[in-house]
Amino acid sequence: MLKWIHRAVGAILFAAATLPASAQVASPDGRNVVNVQVHEGGLFWTLKRDGKDLFLPSRLGFAFRGAPMLRDSLRIVGTSKSSHDETWTQPWGEVARVRDHHNEMRWSVQETGRRSRKFDVVVRAFNDGIGFRYEIPSQDGLENVVIQDELTEFNFATNPKAWWIPSDHSRLDRSEMLWSESPVSRLDSVQTPITTESLDGKTYMVIHEANLVNYPRMFLAGIGLESRTLVAALAPMRDGVKVRAKTPLVTPWRTIQIADRVTDLAPSVLGLNLNPPNALGDVSWVKPMKYVGIWWSMHIGTKTWNSGPNHGATTANTKRYIDFAAKNGLGGVLVEGWNIGWDGNWINNRDAFSFTKPYPDYDLPGLAAYAKSKNVRIIVHNETSGGTDNYERQMDDAFKLYNSLGLDAIKSGYVTDTLSGGDSHYSQRAVQHHRHVLDMAAKYHIGMVVHEPIHDTGERRTYPNMMSREGARGQEYNAWSGDGGNPPEHETILFFTRMLTGPMDFTPGIFDILIQRPTGKPRGVTDAHPRTTLAKQLALYIVLWSPVQMAADEIENYANQPAFQFIRDVAVNWEQTKVLKGKIGDYVVVARQQRNSPDWFIGAVTDEEARTFDVPLSFLTPGKSYVAEVYADGPGANGITNPLPITISRRTVTSASHLSIKMAPAGGQAIRIHQVK
Ligand code: NOJ
Repeated sequence: MLKWIHRAVGAILFAAATLPASAQVASPDGRNVVNVQVHEGGLFWTLKRDGKDLFLPSRLGFAFRGAPMLRDSLRIVGTSKSSHDETWTQPWGEVARVRDHHNEMRWSVQETGRRSRKFDVVVRAFNDGIGFRYEIPSQDGLENVVIQDELTEFNFATNPKAWWIPSDHSRLDRSEMLWSESPVSRLDSVQTPITTESLDGKTYMVIHEANLVNYPRMFLAGIGLESRTLVAALAPMRDGVKVRAKTPLVTPWRTIQIADRVTDLAPSVLGLNLNPPNALGDVSWVKPMKYVGIWWSMHIGTKTWNSGPNHGATTANTKRYIDFAAKNGLGGVLVEGWNIGWDGNWINNRDAFSFTKPYPDYDLPGLAAYAKSKNVRIIVHNETSGGTDNYERQMDDAFKLYNSLGLDAIKSGYVTDTLSGGDSHYSQRAVQHHRHVLDMAAKYHIGMVVHEPIHDTGERRTYPNMMSREGARGQEYNAWSGDGGNPPEHETILFFTRMLTGPMDFTPGIFDILIQRPTGKPRGVTDAHPRTTLAKQLALYIVLWSPVQMAADEIENYANQPAFQFIRDVAVNWEQTKVLKGKIGDYVVVARQQRNSPDWFIGAVTDEEARTFDVPLSFLTPGKSYVAEVYADGPGANGITNPLPITISRRTVTSASHLSIKMAPAGGQAIRIHQVK
C-alpha cells in the first residue's frame, strides 16, 4: 500500500495561565470551525460552516456508575494543534485513493475541585466534516471506569429534515427497518447514521461514528418534543452498564459529514480517515468477487436450511452452483445450511450450531477441493443465532479447518434479539466479539461478510478483511416480509444513509421478480417480491456497492437471460465514484470507474415515479472511444406489476456524448461503458 505524507505534524502547547476559556480549530479550507468552550463549569462544543451556526453549544462529559459525573467544575488546562495531509490507497473500495487532510486540536480538561479528574477532547476538522472524541488518560483514582452514559449532545442550530431508522434495544435490536423522514425536533431514539438536509437545501449533514473499538454502539435520543438536541445513547450490556474499561480509554469518534450538495455526500471517506491504517500488511488474499449461492431458495421456501428431503446444501446442489459460477466467471458460491444445527427452530439454536461438522449429505473437504479445481471459492456460512459464546468456543478450530481446506471467506450471521449473555446486539461486549472475529479471521487469511452486524464505522481501513455486511433491510425482505417487501424508494434512501458508512451485502440480481417459477403463479400486489424492474436489479450492483456482490437468484433463473451478461461484466472494485444526480428518497444516478481499468459503469434508480435524465459523459477520457451497453426499462415496464421488460442496446460514445437515462416507475438503468480505443 502506497502512502504519501505531504506535511508533517506540528504542535503548539499553551501554558494554562494564558489559556482562553475557549479555542477553535478550522478545516483546511477554513469553512468548518469547531469551538470548545467552558461555560459555568460545563464543557461545550459548537460547529459553524462559513460563519453560520450548524450546532449551538452542545455539552460534553460522562456519567459514571459508582462515581460522580464528569461534567461540572471543568476548566481547560491546555491545548495543542497539529495538521496532517496524507493520501493513502485502499486495497479495494468505492474509490482507490483517499486524501486525509485535516487540522487537529486537543483540549486538555480538568475538574477544579478536590477530585481533579482529567480528560482530553480531540477534534479533527476536515473540509468534508469533523470528528471528535474523548481520551481519558490513566490517573490516580480513575484506573477503572464504569460508564453509565456518555453525555455528548448534538444541539442543532436549525431544524433540518432527517432520514432515520428507529432504535429500540429493549425490543427489536436490529437495523433492518424502513427509513422515515421528519424534522430533527421530532426524533425520539434513532440509529446512526442519520442524514439531514437543511430547509434551504444547501447543507447536508450525516451524524455517525468512526473507529468503534471496545465501546458500545452509539444511538441518538431526542430530549423532548420540539427540542433540536439529540444526545448520545449507548447500547447497554445486560446489567445496564454501557462501558467497563480501564484507563487510558479512547472513545470512538463522533462524526459529522458536511456537504453543500447531496451529490457530494458520496464517496464518503471521513470515517475511513478516522480509522488507523491497514494493520494487516499484505492483503492480496482478500479478493473482491461476485458470487452465487444456495440462499434465495431458502428465503422463498423452495429449499430448507435444515436436513430433510428439501435440504439445499447437498453435495450435488453445491456442485451445480460451483459449475455455474465457473462457467460464468463468478468468483464464489455461498452455501447456507451445510453445518449441523439448523434442525428445529434455528433462531433458537444458538448453542446447537457446529461450525466444523457438516450434515452427512454435504461433503465439506470434497467440495472445497472441487471448488478449488474450478477456481471458485466457497463462502462458508456461519449463522450463530446470536450465540457468541458458542461461536467463540469453536472459532479457532473452525477457522483453522477452513484454512486447511483453502476456504478463505465467511458469511456470518447473528439473527436474534439479544446475544448469548443477554447483551444487546450492539453492546460493548458485542463490539469486542466482532473485533475478536476479525482478528481471528485475519490470522487465518479469511475475508468476512457479516449479517446482523454492528454498523460500519470504517474498520475496513484497518482490517481490509472486513469486506462487507448487511446492517439494513436487504433483498431478503422482498422474499418474505409481511409488508410486501422494500418500497421502490428504499434504495434511493439507502444510498444517502446506510451506504455512506460502507459497503452493503444487499444481494441484488433477482430475475424471477414476481417469484413465479417455483409456484407457477405471480404474487399478488401485497405479497412480498422485489418492487423493482429487472433493469433496476442490475443498477443496484453499481448503486449499492460492495466488494462481494451476489447474483442472488436461483441459478435456473439466469438461464437464457441476455440481461445476465451485465452481471458477468460488472466490476466490484472501483477507482472513482461520481454521483451525477440525486434526491434522497426519489432517485440517484451514480458512475463508477472500474479499478485499474478505463471502463465505467452507471447505475440509476428511481422511486415509484418514472424519470428521465440527461447525463453528459464528460467524466470519460477525451479522445477515447467507448461502447455503452445500456440495460434500460423496456416498453410497459413498471416495478410493481410488470417488472421484466428490458431493452438492451449498444452505442458508441465519447466524453462529448450525452445519454438520456429513462426509467420506468420503480425502475432503473444499468450501463457498462467499455473503452474500445
Ligand atoms: C439472515 C441473513 O441476513 C440471511 O442472509 C441468512 O440467509 C439468514 N439470516 C440465515 O442465516
